[in-house]
Amino acid sequence: MEINHLLKRGVDIIKDREYGNPVLEATLLLGKLLNVDKVYIYTHGKDQVPEPIVDKFLELMDKRSKGYPIQYILKEKEFMGLDFYVEEGVLIPRPDTETLVEYVLRHIDKNYKDRLVNFLDLGIGSGAICLSVAHYRKNANVYGVDIHDTPLKVASINKERFNLDNVKLYKGDLFKGIEDLGLEGKFHIIASNPPYIPKREIETLQKEVKDYEPVDALDGGEDGLSFYRRIIPESKRYLQEKGLLIFEIGYDQGKQVKDILMDNGFKNIQILKDLQGLDRVVFGTKN
Ligand SMILES: C[S@@+](CC[C@H](N)C(=O)[O-])C[C@H]1O[C@@H](n2cnc3c(N)ncnc32)[C@H](O)[C@@H]1O
Repeated sequence: MEINHLLKRGVDIIKDREYGNPVLEATLLLGKLLNVDKVYIYTHGKDQVPEPIVDKFLELMDKRSKGYPIQYILKEKEFMGLDFYVEEGVLIPRPDTETLVEYVLRHIDKNYKDRLVNFLDLGIGSGAICLSVAHYRKNANVYGVDIHDTPLKVASINKERFNLDNVKLYKGDLFKGIEDLGLEGKFHIIASNPPYIPKREIETLQKEVKDYEPVDALDGGEDGLSFYRRIIPESKRYLQEKGLLIFEIGYDQGKQVKDILMDNGFKNIQILKDLQGLDRVVFGTKN
């Protein structure tokens, strides 16, 4: 079958869904299977596609039509200008999370220019936060912890992909992952994008998210705040004096997380908005 015809069949399979971009998604997927870029697909419409690739393409378009995320099919998601490998079992990095990373990069430049800075990421997923910091700031000595094997495997693949030698990854339940390393009082920055969706709201999320993304990356307990309640008091043992604790939050959690930081003696507390103008990041410093 010709590229043009196959593309049209693929678009027809997914065009009735309410979200996504059918033409772009079909083009990217066919390009991936043929190992060519999207410009090639647009300019070689008359090329014949081998039969096994036709079958594979139609099978994957069918899967996509049932809400399976395109990023898991393509096995890739761009974040902070880096192409992260992703697969089922890790959260797909979100553009909103760039707000946190960009603040961390500015904070490093302002306070630790050309000095070594110890950075910890709790709940690494694909490695979006910790590997971006490690890539863009070579003076960062980066530690990452996740409780599950798939995120650790995927983040290790991405660490290799970006050729980073300033990152160490550990398995564990939040700070337990690094508790034997003698790092108490050593971190200049601790960051986390923890699970923060209130349990009862998970069912209301769009199908792509609730059916296919890992629930342990989403579920923040009854009110969505359980990880902030754990991380904030425990972080004081691991932060240096004046160290920064920075979180991604749900758009309506700014005040509550700010209050937990205040109750635990954090100073210089601020809320940052994402590109849509919604509260997305809260941070404070230890003293
Ligand atoms: C919202 S995802 C964030 C992933 C990634 N940092 C990002 O921003 O794309 C939360 C991550 O926390 C991990 N996680 C959940 N509970 C944890 C725990 N108790 N200790 C460590 N990691 C945990 C999940 O496996 C998941 O990878």
